[in-house]
Amino acid sequence: MPSLLALALALAARLSLLTLPLSTLAAPFNSARTVTPPTGPKVIIDNDWCITCFVTYLVPLDYGWDIIGILSDTSNSWSLQGALHAQASLEIGGLDSCIPVYSGADFPLLQTAHTFQTWELLHGVLPWEGVFAKENATLEALGNDPTSGDPKRVVEEAFEKPGYGYPNGSLATDTTAAGFLVEQVRKYPGEVVIYSGGALTNIALAVRMDPDFAKNTAGLYIMGGYIDRMIEQTSGDVLQADLVSDINLIIDPESAKIALTADFPNITIVGNVANVLTPDTAYLEDVFEVENPFSQLMLSYAPTFLPFWDETAAAIMVDPSIVLEEIEFYADVDTSFNSPYYGYIRPYQAALMPPGLRTVRYITKVNETALSDIIKHSIQYPKTCADLGK
Ligand SMILES: *[C@@H]1O[C@H](CO)[C@@H](O)[C@H](O)[C@H]1NC(C)=O
Ligand SMILES: *[C@@H]1O[C@H](CO)[C@@H](O)[C@H](O)[C@H]1NC(C)=O
Ligand SMILES: *[C@@H]1O[C@H](CO)[C@@H](O)[C@H](O)[C@H]1NC(C)=O
Ligand SMILES: *[C@@H]1O[C@H](CO)[C@@H](O)[C@H](O)[C@H]1NC(C)=O
Repeated sequence: MPSLLALALALAARLSLLTLPLSTLAAPFNSARTVTPPTGPKVIIDNDWCITCFVTYLVPLDYGWDIIGILSDTSNSWSLQGALHAQASLEIGGLDSCIPVYSGADFPLLQTAHTFQTWELLHGVLPWEGVFAKENATLEALGNDPTSGDPKRVVEEAFEKPGYGYPNGSLATDTTAAGFLVEQVRKYPGEVVIYSGGALTNIALAVRMDPDFAKNTAGLYIMGGYIDRMIEQTSGDVLQADLVSDINLIIDPESAKIALTADFPNITIVGNVANVLTPDTAYLEDVFEVENPFSQLMLSYAPTFLPFWDETAAAIMVDPSIVLEEIEFYADVDTSFNSPYYGYIRPYQAALMPPGLRTVRYITKVNETALSDIIKHSIQYPKTCADLGK
């Protein structure tokens, strides 16, 4: 279990081995490049990153969005491990020199492995426990991302896979993830869209740090918040139950409540609808018709039993034309530890709601064909920092 210092030394040692900047090393594709600076909205992407999670940033890049920073959060695994995944994939794609990665808050506002596991004793086990699954050294040695235990623990085995690698560059440390959110929204008021594909901890911290933060963003997109799918959790196996449940809000219910009741100009939630598209091997092979490091990683490591959850939310963010149906309601989040719905969204109509809530858009139907095409194109034709002129 490396200490933070050991990790920092290891990173420094790796860095000093490099004689060329990474951006010149990583120019393996798109040989005839024309520089196309981003013309779309600015966006900060906060996610619980993994080996194939890069599609969440490739989609906005493909639509000409300006990714001003990437944040990690503690949700599927610890924030630091996730930040290193984001950094690794950016390096592999020649995107690390123009997109900084900030590791987010280590812990949710209140939840710990102890409270989470105690809640499970009271209310039953979640089909997917994310970062608060029990620590398991056997699984980590096999290359699984760390769960429970020390949040600063990095499992290098999760990076030591063909076509992938432990990052050679450093995470950004000039400020915290929440500090970066506040700083950038002050710098570009009204211009920065916030995307959240994991827990909402960093975003809630930014909301509380700066009373003008939420209203001065250009909106919030959230993957998570499944509603009315309990019966379906009873009628199949545990994987089936996993597919109709989610962890993003449940890992940090208090942050979810702070974010969903803050005065963002608008909040779009991609919950149930995020299950619409699950890649199969044929799809991944089709994507690999255009070979590059990203299409190779997808073919090698994308699970063919899990839907494109975060990817669907990213596509909805950049291309509203794929939304076929949506509803609007007032949203609360259950923050009662003694509730079996701790961390779940509670939707309301105005006449029945408690005070302090606001409306959210909840997407209910998307164009699957268009979604499939958007994801495919983003992986096949990724831009590099050189392409972006950055
Ligand atoms: C760790 O995971 C392995 C593989 O799934 C499992 O066989 C083992 O029982 C787990 N160990 C603990 C202590 O839960
Ligand atoms: C970092 O450098 C090592 C040694 O060259 C390489 O094996 C590894 O893949 C690199 N990591 C990334 C993320 O590119
Ligand atoms: C959200 O609000 C921003 C800022 O007012 C606006 O530019 C954007 O179009 C809105 N998005 C949606 C989906 O309503
Ligand atoms: C869905 O997208 C496809 C491909 O972009 C398009 O041809 C089709 O008309 C769209 N369908 C709907 C219902 O919008």
